[in-house]
Amino acid sequence: MPLNKILAVETSCDDTSVAILDSNGLVLGMISASQDGFHEPFGGIVPEIAGRAHSEKLLPLIEKLLISTDLSWEDISALAVTSRPGLVGSLLVGLVTVKTLALSLNKPFIGVNHLEGHIWAPFVFDNEKDKNPFIEEFLSLVVSGGHTQLIHVQGIGKYKVLGHSIDDAAGEAFDKFAKIIGLGYPGGLVIDQKAKVGDVKKYSFPRPMLKVDNFDFSFSGLKTAAMNTVSGLSWEQIKQNTPDLCASYQEAIVDVLVTKLKAASDSMPYLPVTITGGVSANSRLRDQVTNWSNMAKVKCYFPKLQFCTDNAAMIGFAGLLRMSRGEHSEQSLGPSPRSLDRDFI
Ligand code: KG4
Ligand code: ZN
Repeated sequence: MPLNKILAVETSCDDTSVAILDSNGLVLGMISASQDGFHEPFGGIVPEIAGRAHSEKLLPLIEKLLISTDLSWEDISALAVTSRPGLVGSLLVGLVTVKTLALSLNKPFIGVNHLEGHIWAPFVFDNEKDKNPFIEEFLSLVVSGGHTQLIHVQGIGKYKVLGHSIDDAAGEAFDKFAKIIGLGYPGGLVIDQKAKVGDVKKYSFPRPMLKVDNFDFSFSGLKTAAMNTVSGLSWEQIKQNTPDLCASYQEAIVDVLVTKLKAASDSMPYLPVTITGGVSANSRLRDQVTNWSNMAKVKCYFPKLQFCTDNAAMIGFAGLLRMSRGEHSEQSLGPSPRSLDRDFI
C-alpha cells in the first residue's frame, strides 16, 4: 500500500506527543502534553509516574488529534513510535498502543530510535514556506536532556558518532544548575530567559574538555564548579544575581558546544551542520552558532522551536524516511533503554 499519512507517537520520557504527517513530511497536526509539575516534588522524573501519565493521556490525545485534523483512521496508512532509548515503562505505553492499533487496523508500523528523530528534526516542517532544504549528509550536534553527541550523518540509517558526553548531557547540566539555584525543572528554558539580562563574565566557570583533542564532552566538572560558587552565596545573593549566574553558566556550556562543533566542522568543512534536541532551542547557542556559520560560510540548520524538544512530528518524519525505503517493524519489537551501540546509534 503506498504511504498516505502517518500517525506518530512519542512517549520516551515525560512528554506525551502525537502527530500526523502527510507522505511528504508535512506536519498536519501535533498535540503534546507535558508532565510539568508531576515530578517536581521528587526532584527528578519518577519512571512509574511518567508511565502512568502516558497511559492516561495517550489515547485521548490521539482521538483529539484525529478530530482536530479532520481525519479518520481510513486516512492513516501507517504508524510510527519511539522504541528506544528512553524510560522502558514510558516507551512501553507508546509501543503497546501503536502495536495494538497496527494489529487491529491492519496497518504497518515502525519503531523509531528517538535520537534518529532528533537527527532529522531540522527538516520537519509544518509550513512549506519556511522549510529547510532536505539533505542526507551532514554533521549533527544532538543536544538534549539525555544526550550530547556529535554525529556524522551519512544517510538515512547511517550515523557515525564522532564524540559524545562522557558524563552529563548538556540539557542535564542546565537542569541540575536550575535546581541548585531554585529555578525548578526542567531548567534550560528558564536559564535561557534569565540569562538575557545577565553578565556572561560575572562568574568564571570552567570549559571542560576544550583542550582535549577529540570530540567528546564533559559537563559534570562544570556543575561541581557551579555548586561550589553557589554554596558561597546566601539565598538572597543567589536571587539578586540569578541573571548573572545564568548568563555565566550558560556561556560556559555554549562555548564548549560551539568550540567542539567548530572543530568537527573544520575536520569536514564541506558538510552542512545541524544543531538539534531540546538545548538547540537555546537562544544564545543559536546566536553563537549562526554567527560562526555565517563567518565560516558553513550552512547551518536548526529545527523550528516546536520541534527542538521531544515531539512526535520528528518521530513521524524519521519513520517516513525509513518506511519509504520499504522498512517496517514486527509485533515482536520491544522497548529498550539504550541506543544501539556507542559508535553507531
Ligand atoms: O530533547 P529533549 O526534549 O529531551 C530529551 O531527549 O532529553 O530535551 C530536554 C532538555 C532539557 O534538559 C531542557 O532543560 C532543555 O532541553 N532545554 C533547553 C532549552 N529548552 C529546553 N536548554 C537550554 N535552553 C533552552 N531554551
Ligand atoms: Zn529527546
